Amino acid sequence: MTYLRNAWYVACWSDEVKKGEMFSRTLLEEPVVLYRLTDGTPVALQDRCPHRFIPLHLGSIKNDAIECCYHGLQFDCTGKCVLNPHGDGKIPTAARVRSYPVAERHGMVWIWMGDEKEDPALISDYAVLDQGSGYKTSRGKITIDANYELVAENLLDLSHAPFLHNGLLGSPEMTEAAPVVREEGSVLHVDRWMPNVSVPGTFDMLFRRDGQNVDAWQNMSWYPPACFMLDVGVQAPGESRDRGAWFYGVHILTPETARTTHYHFAAAFPPGGPELDEETNKRLGEMRRIAFDEQDKPILNAQQAAIGDEDFWDMKPVLLNVDAGPVRMRRKLAQLIAQEVARNTEKLPSAQTSGA
Ligand code: FES
Ligand SMILES: [Fe+2]
Repeated sequence: MTYLRNAWYVACWSDEVKKGEMFSRTLLEEPVVLYRLTDGTPVALQDRCPHRFIPLHLGSIKNDAIECCYHGLQFDCTGKCVLNPHGDGKIPTAARVRSYPVAERHGMVWIWMGDEKEDPALISDYAVLDQGSGYKTSRGKITIDANYELVAENLLDLSHAPFLHNGLLGSPEMTEAAPVVREEGSVLHVDRWMPNVSVPGTFDMLFRRDGQNVDAWQNMSWYPPACFMLDVGVQAPGESRDRGAWFYGVHILTPETARTTHYHFAAAFPPGGPELDEETNKRLGEMRRIAFDEQDKPILNAQQAAIGDEDFWDMKPVLLNVDAGPVRMRRKLAQLIAQEVARNTEKLPSAQTSGA
């Protein structure tokens, strides 16, 4: 599958890469091993020894380099082989693995898997997750057995909430809301405003706990290729949001394979919002986990299984008004990928492009 490669993806939560240990994960269909240098800097290397293709994460860390467990070649943080313990110790030029630029921000390790120069300024802004932001946060990670575009559609079309998450994150009257789609530079926003609807369980717990109707909003933003930020909340009908209850939902997708997706999520509750004791924060976290893990995930898995290897558009999906955001996202992503492929093709020597 062709991915947008010159972009930042989340490899993992920062604390998953522990000092002195290796952490392996498939990202964009490539095996990657992450570890930390003695000074704590994270490193990402191709997780495959070029000698006999053993995963490097099965080896050990020696002086900031990885030693392959099979015949002892060592690779430094740039992917260069720095030790061949055999014979005259000469190092073949082909003995190297790919090293990927990484950046650590907002409690996550970000990875750049393209050939163009990485730009840390392009990392999506999740400052609400930073320590000292004042936001109270909880987070999680699951793997979905579906292509990341299917998961992205799920996030950009929250009209499924009254059905799949009824009573938890959605309520029946929410089906009347039409999504408002707008683009702002490269960012796509899909906003839903739902006045005077019955209050979903999660928000009742967060807000007044009286079961009374509320005005609700779900404003989702998509930062290509796969980062999302949801501003979601409720207020008393006709009141202002300052007196309501809301939070940011962080949703970040990283393709693992064409049919599986790493899904990192978090909630960030604003300072000055309703008092959130540990117990309530834990219960809200559990409700969100149920929504993603026990409600969205099985449906997305079943959707992928039903689609199999068929092309989404070739299957001629029925389009509803709620699909405006997802369709825009698919087109934009396809356009970005096509532009990237065109840039790469231009760089190839003419012999290769002419098919000679
Ligand atoms: S397979 Fe890694 S050194 Fe031989
Ligand atoms: Fe959902």
